[in-house]
Formats: sequence, structure tokens, C-alpha cells
Amino acid sequence: MTKPFVWGVGTSAYQIEGARHTGGKGESVWDRFSDLGRVPGNGDVAADHYNRLEEDLDLLAGLGIGAYRFSTAWTRVIPDGDGEISRAGLDFYDRLISGLRARNIEPCLTLYHWDLPQTLQDRGGWTSRATIDAFARYARVMVETFGDRVGRWITHNEPWVSSFLGHRDGVFAPGLTGWETALVAGHHLLVSHGRATAAMREVAGDIKVGIAIDCRPSKPADQSAVAANTFFDGFRNRWFFDPVFGRGYPEDVVEAYTERGHLTSGLDGLVHRGDLDEIATPIDFVGVNYYTTVTVKAGGEESDEPEGPVGPGAPEGFTEMGWRVDPAGLTEFLRRVHDEYAPASILVTENGASHGDGPDSEGRVRDERRIEYLASHIDATLAARESRVPVDGYFVWSFLDNLEWIEGFSQRFGLVWVDEQTRQRIPKDSYYWYRDRIRGSESG
Ligand code: FCB
Repeated sequence: MTKPFVWGVGTSAYQIEGARHTGGKGESVWDRFSDLGRVPGNGDVAADHYNRLEEDLDLLAGLGIGAYRFSTAWTRVIPDGDGEISRAGLDFYDRLISGLRARNIEPCLTLYHWDLPQTLQDRGGWTSRATIDAFARYARVMVETFGDRVGRWITHNEPWVSSFLGHRDGVFAPGLTGWETALVAGHHLLVSHGRATAAMREVAGDIKVGIAIDCRPSKPADQSAVAANTFFDGFRNRWFFDPVFGRGYPEDVVEAYTERGHLTSGLDGLVHRGDLDEIATPIDFVGVNYYTTVTVKAGGEESDEPEGPVGPGAPEGFTEMGWRVDPAGLTEFLRRVHDEYAPASILVTENGASHGDGPDSEGRVRDERRIEYLASHIDATLAARESRVPVDGYFVWSFLDNLEWIEGFSQRFGLVWVDEQTRQRIPKDSYYWYRDRIRGSESG
């Protein structure tokens, strides 16, 4: 029998919560990054979700969703990363989780959506193996507290972004640069995923644990770009999927990294005995975050540039992130994950479109292009499911307009409009469309 399909929406702590200092919350690498002026907008308030919890819970309930994916801020729970546990921090998530359950919404909790405690960063962050243990302890604390009320857990969100944008390119927090730094950070993130998964299972045997991996399916621009495309796919997709599913790091990519001088002591310098087994700790589901596909040109295999212009007035076929709209790419990627890795269950943990449409003179937000994007990608997800790919859920990114990292509020993915000054919420047309889509699928 096929499992019931889960409809959901997603957010992350730093992007929506605000309340930066409330309840003794510690400083995260994103707080530091925004203090350095690297983030437009204001992470101190973000979408002010912390102070508007009841209103947001009611908006979630109005959608009729089965599950809500959110992340918890490590610094709210353990302000300095590995020291004392904050009762006030746990209380906030207690209110959120109780509020969801009271509304029949299943909480789906992501432990890490990029907001590392700054105190750990000061000691090397993800480049230090000590952070692996600190993360596993945080995971354990969370499951001890909420394991009886949260059934679905995600260790990490998008390890590629944390490692490469944060440690190779320096455009995301903590702003470090260098290939080797990124590869070390990425490896420790993966080991911490496995160690945390095992620790969580020890505490609560019946929870479901997974990881959300971002994907960028690609194709070569022409014959001359075939090798570049294979490298790109290895660097962007296989480098994370392969070890999580017990295959170790892809050999062709290890070779290329070594030749290019990205791994000065080879793979042995990076991987300690037992690491690969830990990374491959069995999981219950894999989350796929999907937005777009890219065309790789010869020589363009080490970057992930948007293909269209970024900002308002996106041309037909692109979103305002400059990302090409390609729903067929989602069906194909889901089939590929099933064929190559055979996970027990797949969830589309993120999918959505940035379009800046705001309230008209009547206060209504007519975001037709978002509706079209979501409709086609939901169909694409269900097409994979119909061809027996075990995809069991779909989460729209995002519930609310929020702080889109270094883009601030200029990139809006929400089903609900959030005014950047007043933080007033207005459900967009896409909010009502999604509600009706869910209702239709449940009655039909
Ligand atoms: C993903 C992130 C999420 C959001 C979307 C647009 O990479 O996980 O926080 O920024 O992209």
C-alpha cells in the first residue's frame, strides 16, 4: 500500500524568528555576518515570528497542511553551542510544537539550517572535529525533550550550501574562503549527520530521521562540456548523496580535486577511519530541496551562477533568483535518486519560487507566477510518485516571506506576504490556491 502523501510548508529559524537576544539566545554565525553588514535587512527581527507565534500557527492551520518543516536555532537552545541548556529556548519550541499538534499539524524539525553558534565558530566551527560532538549533543538534547512529540527529524539542511557558499566562496556565513576549507567543513558536516542520527535513535527508537540535500541537476551546453558537466554533477550532487548512501566519495571527483590541488593531503588527509561508516548511518528518508536545473558550459564547472537576470521583472521561464523554471527536472531527479540510491522514502523538503508581487490597492497579492510554478512542480512530484518512486511528501518553500539570507527581503518566496517595516502578514493568492489544492487532493 502506498503511504499517505504529506503536504507541508517550510521555514528556517534565522530567516523568520527574530528575537535575537530574547531568553538569553546566543550569537550565531549569521548574527555576526549581519553585524558585519553582509546581510541587507534585519536578522534581529526577521519576520518577527517569535513574537507572532499564535498568529502564524493560525495561518498554518488555515492552509490545511499535514506537516510544518521548521528549524530550531542551536543558539536558542544551547547559547554557547556546547554549554548550558536554555530553558527559555526550549520553552519557545515547546510552544511551537504544542501549537502545531493542537492544530493537527505534524512538526518536522530541522536541527541545523546554517546558524552555527559563534562560540563554536571561534574555535574553528565546522573545520574542527569538536563541532561534530557538539552537534550530536545538541541533537540528543532536542530528541530527549521533543522526541515523544516530533516524529520527523532532519539533521542538516543543504550541506553543499553550508560548505561551499560559507567556506569556499565566503558569500554566506561564516564567510571563509578556500576549497580545502570547504571540503573539510563539508566532511565534518556529513560525519555530524551520521553521529547525530545514531545519538537520536539511541534516545527515541521510533522517530524518523533524514537529511535535506540540495540538488542541482545539470546538463552539458554542448559536446565540449560533457566532462565539465560530469564534474559539476559530482561536485554539486554526488559528493553528498554518495557518502550518505554508503558509497563513499565519488572517485572521479576525488581525483579531480586532488589534481586541481583542492585536497593537498588526498582523501586520507580528510577522512579518518570510521568516518564513512558513520556518514552512512541508515536514514529513514532523504529530503530533496529542488528549485532549478542548470546548463554547464565547458570551463564553467566550479560555479553555480544563476542563469537568468536576478531581481524584479524576471523574464518568462525564470524566477527572480534568476533560476530557470524546470518542473520536468524535478521528476527526473526524483527518479534518479530512487534508481541510484533507493531510499525507503523521499520528501521534497523545499520547492518554491521567488516573485516580488506585493499587495495591490485592495490589499490583495496576486502572485500568479508562483501559483503556476507550484502547480507544475506538484504535478512533477506526483508524476514521479505515480511511476513508483517513493516520494511521500512535498513542502513549499516558504510559508512566509522572510530574510532570504544575503538578499534580505528583496527575494520573496512566501505564500504569505510579510511587510518589511510592520511585519504585517497578508496571505497571497498562492496561499489560498495551495489550501484548495490540498483540499482537492484529499477529497479526490
Ligand atoms: C535554500 C535554503 C532556504 C532558502 C531557499 C530559497 O537553499 O535552504 O533557506 O534560502 O534556498
